[in-house]
Amino acid sequence: MEFKTKEEFESKIKRVIVSEEEIRAAIAEAGRYIDGIFDGSPILLVSILKGSFVFLADLARAVSVPCEIGFMAAKSYYEGTQSSGVVRITMDLERDISNCHVVIVEDIIDTGRTLSDVVKLLKSRGPLSLRVVTLLDKPSRRIVPFEADMSLFTIPDLFVIGYGLDYGEYFRNIPYIAEFGE
Ligand code: IMP
Ligand code: MG
Repeated sequence: MEFKTKEEFESKIKRVIVSEEEIRAAIAEAGRYIDGIFDGSPILLVSILKGSFVFLADLARAVSVPCEIGFMAAKSYYEGTQSSGVVRITMDLERDISNCHVVIVEDIIDTGRTLSDVVKLLKSRGPLSLRVVTLLDKPSRRIVPFEADMSLFTIPDLFVIGYGLDYGEYFRNIPYIAEFGE
């Protein structure tokens, strides 16, 4: 994706869907939720790259139980706003998770394909427990049934960018969630 001018780039940021303040408050609550569940037991936060890197960075600092950080990459969207329907694990965890309480950290659940595949894979490795926290959820778009243990914001069927989420690899560094406009 190429932008000829900064104005062209900025014109794609249509309107704010979730503000920085709303994100901050919801993450503080999510941190308390995780602390409450694990009550001091160590956990492994697994960030699904790339979209969840910003959320992970803030969520990890909102929890106070001992925590390790792991990364996995799954690709379901390529260029554009349409799901390809194919999920590929392009980067895997480096550690054995059989003695871990795992919390998957995801940016958004759309069709449900990515997380149902990732959850299946991680469950097969026998973790002590497995939970999913997602920043955003678009339940109206589900193709594969999937529910997160905690979802911070439910949004309508819009293509959103910012706070880690991209369109054509751009806009991940916008500090809030916005609607993308063609
Ligand atoms: P799913 O497999 O269809 O649930 O899609 C999950 C992945 O698609 C997310 O982790 C995102 O990377 C991407 N995605 C889905 N909806 C959006 C969106 O509105 N903006 C940016 N990325 C999205
Ligand atoms: Mg993602």
